[in-house]
Amino acid sequence: MDLDSVRLIELPKILDRRGNLSFIEGNRHIPFPIRRTYWIYDVPGGEVRGGHAYRENEEFIVALSGSFDVVLYDGTGEARYSLNRSYYGLYVPKMIWRSMENFSTNSLAMVLASTVYSAEDYIREVEEFRRMQGR
Ligand code: TYD
Repeated sequence: MDLDSVRLIELPKILDRRGNLSFIEGNRHIPFPIRRTYWIYDVPGGEVRGGHAYRENEEFIVALSGSFDVVLYDGTGEARYSLNRSYYGLYVPKMIWRSMENFSTNSLAMVLASTVYSAEDYIREVEEFRRMQGR
């Protein structure tokens, strides 16, 4: 997969004096049905998460609170997205190498995933990933 297929997606935003509301429906706002949700929180300053790609899993990443960077690599180029609003997120297709870093204090990263958890779906060696990408 190429970095071209990565997309920032703006979510519906219902503005209200009582507090704003956003929502995500699988297959509608994001291009896959949601099979799993996980979140990353209490990240100590300077820590880096990720450092792998998935064979099949697609993800949509939202900064529900605070900010962090998602760094992506397709075997050729690199792209960095800074997420810091709860009403948009980053669609990351399968077969894109990713890390998450620069977590602000109290940041909360919500990840919607297209598959249930499977350790076999992970590619943890960047050399293997590059080979699989034909690069
Ligand atoms: P991992 O995906 O390696 O974390 P990150 O990429 O954010 O650094 O997951 C860390 C641990 O959590 C690993 O032991 C697997 C486990 N885990 C699950 O059991 N279910 C899940 O849905 C996820 C994402 C991780």
